[in-house]
This record gives sequence, C-alpha cells and structure tokens, in this order.
Amino acid sequence: MKAEKFKSPFKGRSLLNWIDWTPEEINQILDYAFLVKKQSHKGEVHQRFLGKTIALIFEKRSTRTRSSFETAFGEEGGHPVFMSTDDIQLGEKESVKDTARVLGRMFSAIEFRGFKQKHVEELAEYSGIPVINGLTDDFHPTQVLADIMTLKEHFGHLKGLTLCFCGDGRNNMARSLMLICSKVGINFSVFAPKELSPDEEIIKICTPFAKQSDAKITISDEISVVKNADALYTDVWVSMGEEALKEERVKLLQPYQVNKELMAATGKPDTIFLHCLPAVKEQEVTEEVFESDASKVWDEAENRKHTIKAIMLALV
Ligand code: CP
Ligand code: NVA
Repeated sequence: MKAEKFKSPFKGRSLLNWIDWTPEEINQILDYAFLVKKQSHKGEVHQRFLGKTIALIFEKRSTRTRSSFETAFGEEGGHPVFMSTDDIQLGEKESVKDTARVLGRMFSAIEFRGFKQKHVEELAEYSGIPVINGLTDDFHPTQVLADIMTLKEHFGHLKGLTLCFCGDGRNNMARSLMLICSKVGINFSVFAPKELSPDEEIIKICTPFAKQSDAKITISDEISVVKNADALYTDVWVSMGEEALKEERVKLLQPYQVNKELMAATGKPDTIFLHCLPAVKEQEVTEEVFESDASKVWDEAENRKHTIKAIMLALV
C-alpha cells in the first residue's frame, strides 16, 4: 500500500503553544480541521500516516486528548504508542533530554501531556521530530484550536466575536484562550477573582497580538464583564495537580459559576456555553446550563479529534 501525501508548509514544526504561530498559519490549520471533519463525516478513509509512528506520553490523565490522538493517528494507518509515566523512564531515572534523543530515533512525532512546559520544550529541542503539547500546567494549545473551530462553526466567523472565560483565570485554559483569541481577533475577557487573575506575563505576551488583530483583552472581577459575550467559557476550578487547593478554590470561585443568571447577564439571547471538559457539574457550571441548548460542549469535544488530526497532518 502506498502512503497518501498531505501537503503542508508546516512539516517538521512543533506545537508547544500558539505564541510563534501567525494568525494566517492558525487559520490554515483550522481550514485543515474543517477539511478532515468533512471527510470523516462523509465516511472517507485515508491512509495519510501509513508507515508513521507517534509516541503519546501522558503524565496526567486524559479521555479526549488521548482518544483523539490515538484514533486519529491509527485510523490513518499510523501506529500510536501510548506511554504513561508508569511505563517509561522520564525525568527520573532518565533525563527528558535523553528520552527525547531516544524517541527521536524511533518515532515520527511525540505528543506530551504533563506538568512542566519546560519538558515539552526539551522534547522538541532534543528529539529532532515534531512535538505536540497535549496539555501542560501552562498551555493546552490543541484544545483551544477545537474551541475556535466550534465558534467558527456556530457563528460563521471569528473576528469580532467576544469570548468570556469565567473562573480560574490563571490556568492553562485561560492562558491558551487569551493567546489564540488575541491572535485571531476574538475579544477575550476574563471574569475571575483578583487572586486568580491571569498573570502579567501572559497579558504582556498577548497584548501586541491583540493590538494587531484588533481584539480587546478585558479582565475583571465584576459581573458586568460578561456583557455582550457571544460565548461563556469555563473550566474546572481545580486543575490536575492542584487537588490540595480544592476547598479554597470552591469557596473563592462560587460567585464565578456559569449558571442561568450569568448566561442572562451577557444580555444576548444567543450566547453559547463552552467547556473543555471534563466538567464538575454544580461547581464551575450548573447542570441546567450544561444540558441547555446553548451548550455546545459535545461539538467542541468532537472537534478535538478533527483539530488534532489536522495538527498532526500539518506537522508530521
Ligand atoms: N479537554 C481535555 O483535554 O480532555 P482530557 O483531559 O479528557 O484529554
Ligand atoms: N485546567 C484543566 C484542563 C483540563 C482539560 C487541567 O489542567 O486539569
């Protein structure tokens, strides 16, 4: 069998976050995602990863990200190899740098989900093959591509939309959304308590991108910040690795829950609700909003697979 070619100018590149990707490049990968979604819904079978292998390293748990990488790569004829940190030497007995150099000799690409952004960066630096960040404490770049795909599907465009993130404004999702929204021209606001406001460093990184794309970044602990939002987005109050902070977070974030009243506070009847999932119902979002017609979380979850396939086709 002959492998099909997928032409892309991004072959060999890594995706560690969206900082060094231009808006045009992001939109190009988004176009690939729409293409593979269409192909998938038509039942087309392609073998674009035939003869290729990807190492899927997971230090943290996953349902969507692992399923997306593994099924998207496998159904295109590639061979994904799942490795949890119970299975491989990573950072303890063997340094990340050494692991990178070994995997670089055996695989076509690496996906890494873990704690330290530095580790995914080291894998990219020393493996010599494309590395894709499947979530770190700092960024979740594949997720936010699925998020903007869902927005584009729903609203037909991205520029000029307003997305408001409610809850833990310091976490990997808030940071990644700020980044991709400011790149592609989506106004981005954060409704979060001062203690969990996005840090200055990420705001400093995103501000010039927002200026260039004509997007506005607004951060506030006042409910009026959700006004005019086209989408309210939330994420768990306690991210993986922060379990000890649960009690404190639940107390602090209660007023930032996405509920019927908060949805109404946008003043728009057609505001949609998004969540990267998994969701803790009755904490960051009520069951009522989660199950409402405004909730697009299943489209968003499905889009994880199409966007991840598109990213792999583009890079690998
Ligand atoms: N949204 C997301 O990354 O889900 P998983 O943790 O299940 O991969
Ligand atoms: N902020 C969450 C995202 C899960 C997809 C976490 O890091 O656990």
